[in-house]
Amino acid sequence: MKIAVLKEGAAGERRVSATAETVKKFIALGAEVAVEKGAGDAASFDDAGYAAAGATIGTRAAVLKDADIILGVQGPDPKSLKGLKAGAWIVAGLNPFGERARVDEYAALGAEALAMEFMPRITRAQSMDILSSQSNLAGYKSVLDAAAEYGRAFPMMMTAAGTVSAAKVFVMGVGVAGLQAIATARRLGAQVSATDVRSATKEQIQSLGAKPIFVENVAGIEGEGSGGYATEMSEEYQKAQAELVSSHIAKQDIVITTALIPGRPAPRLISDAQIATMRPGSVIVDLAVESGGNVEGAVAGEIVEKHGVKIVGHKNVAGRLAADASALFSRNLFNFLSAFWDKEAGKVVLDEEIGDAVRLTQGGKVVSARLLG
Ligand code: NAI
Repeated sequence: MKIAVLKEGAAGERRVSATAETVKKFIALGAEVAVEKGAGDAASFDDAGYAAAGATIGTRAAVLKDADIILGVQGPDPKSLKGLKAGAWIVAGLNPFGERARVDEYAALGAEALAMEFMPRITRAQSMDILSSQSNLAGYKSVLDAAAEYGRAFPMMMTAAGTVSAAKVFVMGVGVAGLQAIATARRLGAQVSATDVRSATKEQIQSLGAKPIFVENVAGIEGEGSGGYATEMSEEYQKAQAELVSSHIAKQDIVITTALIPGRPAPRLISDAQIATMRPGSVIVDLAVESGGNVEGAVAGEIVEKHGVKIVGHKNVAGRLAADASALFSRNLFNFLSAFWDKEAGKVVLDEEIGDAVRLTQGGKVVSARLLG
């Protein structure tokens, strides 16, 4: 069983899909690991570390030759996979909805593409979930990015020259990223409030010492669909939410938005008119910017200023913490493959529940129900 670790090709991608630690663990299972030269450089993992862990280091062609499993953070460009063995697995974050055409190309290559973001949200797959591991870091970093753009302090400070008041931070969308954003803002000393469409998050917000801001007494309040994900809300709810947010947002210094609905564009939560009510110098970080954005006027990859308010739209926020993000991503991949490692057969044999969820292509065809349905 040969595992190939590729150098990421996407612009700005600093992460890598294996570390010396996971290389060692794969080898202990009986695999051979080949790492493309310089694959970990941008995440501070050097070739020497991989070699010391037992990997061979080589060119793309050399690592791909006879590889059974190809690991990536993002899906590799199909054109860069010449010489791929038929039936080889591509295991990565493949962005199946966003990169739909690529999925067809993987099928045409005869590869079996496994999209790690389609991992089902079940207890036994928690340690394999790249969305959770990366969102957690993105939530943390979003608050630091906001703090860096904010011309004021986060904690209340009583100094001889006078008092500095605590920053007011509002977190919209309290999934994995939002929870970490709340915790981080609290650690920095901010006064934090938060909202979500899933009422189950109310208690989580309170347990982190933040104030829940929720729409009450409107039909469709539950907002929770399958797998713990949000669903799109009724018009009545959206109107009530917009009114509530309007009155709250004008008093906030920092807003972090993280709201996503799987397979749909991100819901629009903040309008330009609402931004105009915030005080100049306020900062909004839109973590959903690459999925269409929660904030009107947010631009992916840019910091724009509207009505004196900075709107931060960094792409790939987890990748801005490349070393930790890579370490967690790599462990997710190892946890996934090792859970299904068939020692006797010397290969990975997936079960139906997880295999059918993550498998996009097989035998030259697209087989994913989520893509076909
Ligand atoms: P997500 O990244 O899909 O969305 C972020 C948040 O935005 C969610 O909390 C969602 O409810 C919220 N949202 C969507 N539309 C909104 C709107 N219009 N207004 C305000 N908020 C809105 O969610 P994430 O972070 O992936 O987590 C969702 C749930 O799944 C959480 O309860 C989490 O604990 C659970 N989970 C379970 C896992 C497992 O069991 N293996 C793994 C990861 C998460």
